[in-house]
Amino acid sequence: AKEPVRVLVTGAAGQIGYALVPMIARGIMLGADQPVILHMLDIPPAAEALNGVKMELVDAAFPLLKGVVATTDVVEACTGVNVAVMVGGFPRKEGMERKDVMSKNVSIYKSQASALEKHAAANCKVLVVANPANTNALILKEFAPSIPEKNITCLTRLDHNRALGQISERLNVQVSDVKNVIIWGNHSSTQYPDVNHATVRTPAGEKPVRELVADDKWLNSEFITTVQQRGAAIIKARKFSSALSAASSACDHIRDWVLGTPEGTWVSMGVYSDGSYNVPSGLIYSFPVTCKNGEWSIVQGLSIDELSRKKLDLTAQELSEEKDLAYSCLS
Ligand code: NAI
Repeated sequence: AKEPVRVLVTGAAGQIGYALVPMIARGIMLGADQPVILHMLDIPPAAEALNGVKMELVDAAFPLLKGVVATTDVVEACTGVNVAVMVGGFPRKEGMERKDVMSKNVSIYKSQASALEKHAAANCKVLVVANPANTNALILKEFAPSIPEKNITCLTRLDHNRALGQISERLNVQVSDVKNVIIWGNHSSTQYPDVNHATVRTPAGEKPVRELVADDKWLNSEFITTVQQRGAAIIKARKFSSALSAASSACDHIRDWVLGTPEGTWVSMGVYSDGSYNVPSGLIYSFPVTCKNGEWSIVQGLSIDELSRKKLDLTAQELSEEKDLAYSCLS
């Protein structure tokens, strides 16, 4: 039998946490033959609710779940973890300035970075979900210098999956037959959902999405804004932000990272830029990646047309500004 893997979920008493922990305990994140020990962290005001989630995990009698640590102590939460899914953060409240929200999250991610660096298992893989996801991940990287930068990522897989969903609805094809969309840049409304290399499996072989949709106007405007604004549309409909889709996409992100992407398929991940596609290095930016043996690599050599170039640069610009804002909160 396999040794259990320890998975940390911060903000585990929140809405995404509540959707995510049962998925992990069912083997959706790491595989149906992989036992897990869940580490759940939240803050003291949520301690009672967190304990309620732990009670439900016991009640659900998940065969793969070999233990549960539910705590408000960051060190206890981080100790020995192999995978860390960072969902906890400070939400933007009405009337708050961007800088105030950033400042709260910078201090959370700075201290959690140190705890992970000191106490997590060697080679721990980190996924930041909490917003501003890219910049929280960057702060985590800066304050955990001994964790390899390749191990620190942020979630744009939800945006990627939303793009697949929109194409599948538009063409009335199965979502599993659509692949290789790309989310470039920030997990924000400046992200660029790119279909220029996306394909659909059809009875007549693989076809480019651009050929099948044949409505460039829709692809170049409405499709892009629908994906960019989908988070806001969910809040409007549900009065709460996306939770089941965020949790499911977080599982997709870690599963593909650990177990590998299928041959010929790439996915989108926010990773530390190495300057590929002339994206400034030193930002956590969403790129198309393939994964093998537990490591991601950026897909190279894709053609970038003029419209795309502008959009890649615009979202990089926003990330540089967020980075400056985050640094101004540190001093
Ligand atoms: P929520 O407010 O329901 O839950 C957040 C939880 O984090 C709360 O239980 C809170 O007590 C906890 N928390 C706050 N500070 C903490 C700290 N220092 N340490 C540990 N836990 C802490 O929010 P929800 O809906 O679960 O969303 C969580 C985050 O995920 C938000 O920042 C949201 O914007 C983000 N998000 C990101 C998405 C993405 O695709 N990257 C998609 C959807 C949401």
